[in-house]
Amino acid sequence: MIDINIKTDYDSLDYPSLKEVCQSCTKCELSQNRTHVVVGSGPVPCNLMVIGEGPGEQEDMKGLPFVGRSGQLLTKMLDSVGIDREKEAFIANIVKCRPPQNRNPLPSEIEACKPYLIRQIQLIKPKIIMLLGSPSLKTILEDQLTITRARGKWVTAKVSYMPELLYIIPTFHPSYLLRNASKEKGSPKWLAWNDMKEVKAALSFYDTEVLEQV
Ligand code: URA
Repeated sequence: MIDINIKTDYDSLDYPSLKEVCQSCTKCELSQNRTHVVVGSGPVPCNLMVIGEGPGEQEDMKGLPFVGRSGQLLTKMLDSVGIDREKEAFIANIVKCRPPQNRNPLPSEIEACKPYLIRQIQLIKPKIIMLLGSPSLKTILEDQLTITRARGKWVTAKVSYMPELLYIIPTFHPSYLLRNASKEKGSPKWLAWNDMKEVKAALSFYDTEVLEQV
């Protein structure tokens, strides 16, 4: 599990300043061919953070995460369990610039981008993180398990930005789900939808708790 509590070089930055620094980053080769840096989108702070792999073609063109086909599926899945993507989820990626031909990000690219992601988590202060796909699982949980084995299993972490434990759940990446269309019981899509329902239930728990404090 990566240490979400470490001080990064960006420790003194608030979210708008961090975004600005990301937008002019040249720490790795991915910066050379990008159109836009895709920092992330959503409210800051936010109870739910969703972390994908890296921007694709559409995301690179628009500067926003998950706006292509897999993004549409992600939005639909969030919607189907009653999570409003714009208002209730902060969406980010492991790397913020598009890898050529959508290849997996290289370990050196992930390392270069990691301090941005860590600072982003510290500022967004999620109570729940949903990890989409293998690079996200391997980067955040440093888990050697395959996504098929790790998905749907909650992991907790102690974080310095809140007294409660952070809850993390890995699931399949929507692009994998697009390639596996079956919705039958036990299929990847069915399993991912169940993971989404778990996230909604966990979020509702926090919403209720907040309401009770008012
Ligand atoms: N796939 C990702 O992992 N992230 C995006 O932003 C888009 C597609």
